[in-house]
Amino acid sequence: MKLRGWIVGLLMVAAAAPLAMAQSGPSRSDSSEQYVPRLGDIMNNAQIRHIKLWYAAKAANWELAAFEIRQLQENLVEAALLYSGIPVTNVTTLAAPLQAVADAIDAKDSKKFAKAFGDLTGGCNSCHQSMQRAFVLIRTPTEQPFGDQVFPPQGKK
Ligand code: HEC
Repeated sequence: MKLRGWIVGLLMVAAAAPLAMAQSGPSRSDSSEQYVPRLGDIMNNAQIRHIKLWYAAKAANWELAAFEIRQLQENLVEAALLYSGIPVTNVTTLAAPLQAVADAIDAKDSKKFAKAFGDLTGGCNSCHQSMQRAFVLIRTPTEQPFGDQVFPPQGKK
């Protein structure tokens, strides 16, 4: 897996070209008609990925975990690109914890993953605090709410 270059690359895009993502994407011929998701909706998606990421890694489904960390990363970059009120540095400071999570997934290392996941979660809350959203307090999930999705790798139980 090559998560490293991918994460660094996306963050560079976020830092350098605030409108790039808004102007590209599938079947968007007229940028004035494009759908811009609400920030709270992007965050709800980030929350879902955050939860699934945890349960994928807990079930040692590293393939799924790698997928979820990419999805989560994209949610956060999208938030920074679409909402200029979010300081880009609030997102770029998440680069280190995101990378640590990605490295732990690459290494299939549950211990490192748990530590990195905690740091990442701290990063969620730092931004919430700095943007007067301290009441949105994120933690490691304690219950897996996605009963219709199988988290262990296929063939195992
Ligand atoms: C760069 C800043 C920033 C980061 C990083 C960030 N958030 Fe947020 N988040 C916000 C802001 C701003 C809001 C409030 C949005 C609003 O007022 O509509 C928010 C709101 C939320 C909400 C509430 C959504 C709702 O409608 O109930 C959740 C859940 C959430 N974030 C999850 C996360 C998770 C999980 C992470 C980390 C993986 C994270 N956020 C990282 C800025 C951030």
